[in-house]
Amino acid sequence: MDFLKPRYTPMNRRRRIYEGKAKVLYEGPEPGTLIQHFKDDATAFNAKKHEVIDGKGVLNNRISEFLFQHLNDIGVPTHFIRRLNMREQLIREVEIIPLEVVVRNVAAGSLATRLGLEEGTQLPRSIIEFYYKNDALNDPMVSEEHITAFGWATPQEIDDIMALAIRVNDFLSGLFLGVGIRLVDFKIETGRLWEGDMMRIVVADEISPDSCRLWDIKSADKLDKDRFRKDLGGLIEAYTEVAKRLGIMSENEKVQTGGPRLVQ
Ligand code: TMP
Repeated sequence: MDFLKPRYTPMNRRRRIYEGKAKVLYEGPEPGTLIQHFKDDATAFNAKKHEVIDGKGVLNNRISEFLFQHLNDIGVPTHFIRRLNMREQLIREVEIIPLEVVVRNVAAGSLATRLGLEEGTQLPRSIIEFYYKNDALNDPMVSEEHITAFGWATPQEIDDIMALAIRVNDFLSGLFLGVGIRLVDFKIETGRLWEGDMMRIVVADEISPDSCRLWDIKSADKLDKDRFRKDLGGLIEAYTEVAKRLGIMSENEKVQTGGPRLVQ
């Protein structure tokens, strides 16, 4: 009766749907599902800077699982179904909206540069920005006018995306505050999830120290990808600290870098 057992498809025989800078998407076990694989690659400045950092993928898989599961639990819809192993999670297939949605609470990064604000200045209110996802153009910032004129999303969808982004910001800000971390800013991606004739916008991609700015409240130490962007070193230690504070890893645990690896 062997044929009744679920079949495991070895990773190198799975169909690769898409490969990005830090992740690979494979065909999932059932229609409408995909497997999201976290690589160890770190890139910045549109991949002009690139390094492989042993263990980053494992940490981001765990941290993103934790955050997406909590979002699902409080009724913020996401593409996340469950984690499969050290580097992979099962997700729902969605139609990605080609926008990077950035929410900022504190001036930093490109906003501080663009408007000449001092890094660390609390903003008068949370600010949402949209960037058009296009590597060839370096992900330019766009307005709602561009988004609707070029048909990347409808006005109703933009409203839904902004409502989702605000809920994610409120949840994450509170969660991180509780473990002594200031959520400076973050980026999410969203997608259209079809259920029969019904469509809703859900949070997709990942939420991890790769896509957030996280500062220790007391010391203002950076616990995010700025450690790589700014050559500060200690990226794995910083991501491990985030995982420990969230209770994902125990105090004495070290990140295991084994598990399924990409067959290049
Ligand atoms: P920025 O200040 O460089 O515009 O970044 C804003 C936030 O978005 C920050 O938390 C880092 C995140 N981000 C990404 O996740 N991917 C990117 O490609 C960029 C430029 C920023």
